[in-house]
Amino acid sequence: MKRILGFYFSVFLLLFGACKETPERTEEMNKEIGLYQEPFRPQYHFSPPEKWMNDPNGLLYNQGIYHLFYQYYPDDIVWGPMHWGHATSADMLHWKNKPIALYPDKNGLIFSGSAVLDVNNTSGLGTSENPPIVAVFTYHDMEKEKAGRIDFQTQGVAYSLDNGESFSMYVGNPVLLNTEFRDFRDPKVFWDEKKEQWVMALVAGDHLRLYRSDNLLEWTYMSRFGERLGAHGGVWECPDLFELQVEGTEERKWALLISINPGAPNGGSGTQYFIGDFDGVSFSSDQKEEKWLDWGTDNYAGVTYNNTPDGSRIFIGWMSNWAYARDTPTEVWRSAMTLPRNLSLSKINDSYELLNYPVAAVADLLVEETTLSVTIPPGGMESIGLENGSQSEFKFTTAARDLMFTFKNSKGEQLVLELDGSEKLATLDRSESGVIDFEETFGSIQQMPLDNLPEGLVEIRIFIDASSVEVFINRGQYVMTAQVFPMNSFSDLEIVNSGTTPLKIKDLQVNEVLGVWE
Ligand code: FRU
Repeated sequence: MKRILGFYFSVFLLLFGACKETPERTEEMNKEIGLYQEPFRPQYHFSPPEKWMNDPNGLLYNQGIYHLFYQYYPDDIVWGPMHWGHATSADMLHWKNKPIALYPDKNGLIFSGSAVLDVNNTSGLGTSENPPIVAVFTYHDMEKEKAGRIDFQTQGVAYSLDNGESFSMYVGNPVLLNTEFRDFRDPKVFWDEKKEQWVMALVAGDHLRLYRSDNLLEWTYMSRFGERLGAHGGVWECPDLFELQVEGTEERKWALLISINPGAPNGGSGTQYFIGDFDGVSFSSDQKEEKWLDWGTDNYAGVTYNNTPDGSRIFIGWMSNWAYARDTPTEVWRSAMTLPRNLSLSKINDSYELLNYPVAAVADLLVEETTLSVTIPPGGMESIGLENGSQSEFKFTTAARDLMFTFKNSKGEQLVLELDGSEKLATLDRSESGVIDFEETFGSIQQMPLDNLPEGLVEIRIFIDASSVEVFINRGQYVMTAQVFPMNSFSDLEIVNSGTTPLKIKDLQVNEVLGVWE
C-alpha cells in the first residue's frame, strides 16, 4: 500500500476540498440510478453505495444500533485519502448508508481504528447524562511521510454526542505520538473491567503494543507482544484483543487477532490469531503454531464489535486482498464486507480453536428452495438445478471427507470446492470462475489444511453472493472466504463422490438468501 501513498498525495491535494462537498445521497436516489443492481453487486453483504472501501472501523453497538464505519475514499474506486464512511443497522444485515463520519484534517488522513461508548464520561467529552461515543483512529500525515520522517502515524480522537450522527475532532489531537516506528497504527480500544482501565491494542510493524488510559486521551505504554511469534511475512495491522469463554467449560482465554499483509497462507493479506492470557498489562501466549481465522484470500483487517447487547463477540472483515483490491472488475463501488460472524472458542483435540460462523440473524434472510438427502456411489455424481445459485446458501452434514462441489453457470464458468480426506485438505478453485484476468495470482488454487477436523459428522455451510463465496466447515473451525466474479449466476451444483465408499449427504438444504437492499 505504501507505494501508492505517494501517488495519492498529489491527488489528495487536488481533491481534499472537494471531499467535503460530497452531498449525501438518499436511498431513493440510489434506487433511481440502479445502485445495488450492478453486475457483481453483493445482494446480502455490505458494500458502500459507491467508491472505494477497505477496513471495517469503529464497530460499536449503542442504543439499538450497530455502527459500521469503514475506510473510505469518496472520490474514486481505488485507495485514496482516507475518511471514515458510515452505515448503521439493527441486525448487521440490513444497512442504512449514512454521511461520511470523519474527514482528513491538518493532522492527516483518517486510517483504521475503533470506537467505544464512554459510559462514565471519563474523557469529559460528553456529560454523564449524555456519554460520548469516542472514536480512536490513526492519523497518517502524508507530508511528514513524504519528507522521509518516521513519525507520520499518530493516534487521534473524535467524539459524537448524537449516537454517531455527527463527530467532532478532539482539539488536543493527536493523543498518542510516535517517534520510533514507521508503522504505528490501527488502535483497538476496549474497557478492561477487571482493572477498570481503557486499553489500546496497537500495532508497530512486527509487534503488538498495549497502552492504558483512564480518560481515553492520555495513554501510557504497558507492554509489547509478538516479534518472534506467529506469521511475519508482512507488516502487522488491525489488532483486536478480547476475552472468550471456552465452550462447555468455565475456562476463559484471550484471543488476539492480527492481520498481516503480505504473508497469508494463500498469498497477500490474511488474519492470524493467538490464544493466550491478558493480565491487565501484558498479553502472553504459548501457542506454537501459526493459526488463521480464515484460509481464503479475501477476509482482511477484520475486527469485532464493542458493547454487543448480549456480550457476544461479532466480527466483520473486509472481503478483499491488497494483492488485487484495486483491480477487481467493479466500476461503481469497490469491495464488500464479510457476513457478520460470531466468534467462539472451542478446545478441539487439546488445541484452542477460534471459530467464526455467521450470526444467527442470517437465518431471517433464508428462504427454503430444496432439501434433499442423497447417497452417491464412489465415482458417482449428483446434479442439482439452482434457481439463483449466486444468491444462495448450501448447508449439509456429512461424515465423508472426499467430495467435490462444483457450481456451474451457462457461460461454462465454475467454482470448485474439494475435500480430500487422505491429504486432510480443502481446496477452493476459482481459476475458471468468471473474470480472473485482472491480476495474475487471482486464479490460483487456495488450500486449507484440515489437520484438526474431528472425526464423524461435520456441518458444511456455503454462502454465495454475486461476487463472493464463504465456506464454513464444522461451525467455523475452518473457513475460506474468497471473491469470485462469474458473468452469470450459478445454475447448477454438481456433487461428486471422490472417495472409495458411498458418500452420504444428510439434509442438503439449498436456500435462497434474500437481498437486503430492496
Ligand atoms: C489495513 C490498512 C491499515 C490502515 C488502513 C489504511 O488494510 O493498511 O493498517 O490503517 O488499511 O487504509
